[in-house]
Amino acid sequence: MEKRQELYAGKAKSVYSTDDDDFVILCFRDDTSAFDGEKMEQLSRKGEVNNKFNAYIMEYLEKAGIPTHFESLLSANEALVKNMDMMPIECVIRNVASGSLCRRLGVKEGQELSPAIFEFFLKDDALHDPMINEYHIETFSWASKENVITMKELTFKVNILLKDLFSEAGMILVDYKLEFGVFKGKVVLGDEFSPDGCRLWDEKTRKKLDKDRFRQGLGGVIEAYEEVALRIGVTL
Ligand code: TYD
Repeated sequence: MEKRQELYAGKAKSVYSTDDDDFVILCFRDDTSAFDGEKMEQLSRKGEVNNKFNAYIMEYLEKAGIPTHFESLLSANEALVKNMDMMPIECVIRNVASGSLCRRLGVKEGQELSPAIFEFFLKDDALHDPMINEYHIETFSWASKENVITMKELTFKVNILLKDLFSEAGMILVDYKLEFGVFKGKVVLGDEFSPDGCRLWDEKTRKKLDKDRFRQGLGGVIEAYEEVALRIGVTL
């Protein structure tokens, strides 16, 4: 597959076209951002760790019946993925209260959420990714009704699969965000799954092993990402 020009540069990844319109190359950079891009830093090795971590998770999910855009690892920081029409929506599941849920509702961080809470956010940095619901999505045609149902179902299936995967490695999957696209008419999991877009705590000590280390200036960000990867069996 031949890498052609850069199509898009996001906050942590860049997308390149290839000689096949059905596929693009995701390049995971070391750039790390928080608070809608207000805090930005380069963290050495982050691109490589997240690329390998994401490949492991996407292959794990695909084997368990979740359609994903992932095709193959191309290099330490590049992956070949399906070229999808992305829906501008973020699907979040929360198993334990943290982050914006606590800020919005005054709930104490660490409270177990049973049943788990599902939320939609609009992918729009300028608007600070506002929370939305099914009515906004339908009225503004951000996704079809059927695709909304499928995204929600898949996000809950991923919760069962990944809660188990991380629990077996001594970690709690506190919350996570997924993004979906449409490829040849089918809803497919896209973007990435890495400690940049989820919260993971050590089961015993409750130590934060995710991007909150960066957001909150706790240090040891990449060391924590590497620890999570190694604990679930990713080869770095
Ligand atoms: P949330 O608590 O809503 O926001 P914040 O991280 O700003 O406190 O996020 C819930 C989970 O979803 C968390 O693991 C981070 C992830 N997420 C993103 O990665 N990007 C986003 O734009 C949003 C809204 C959430």
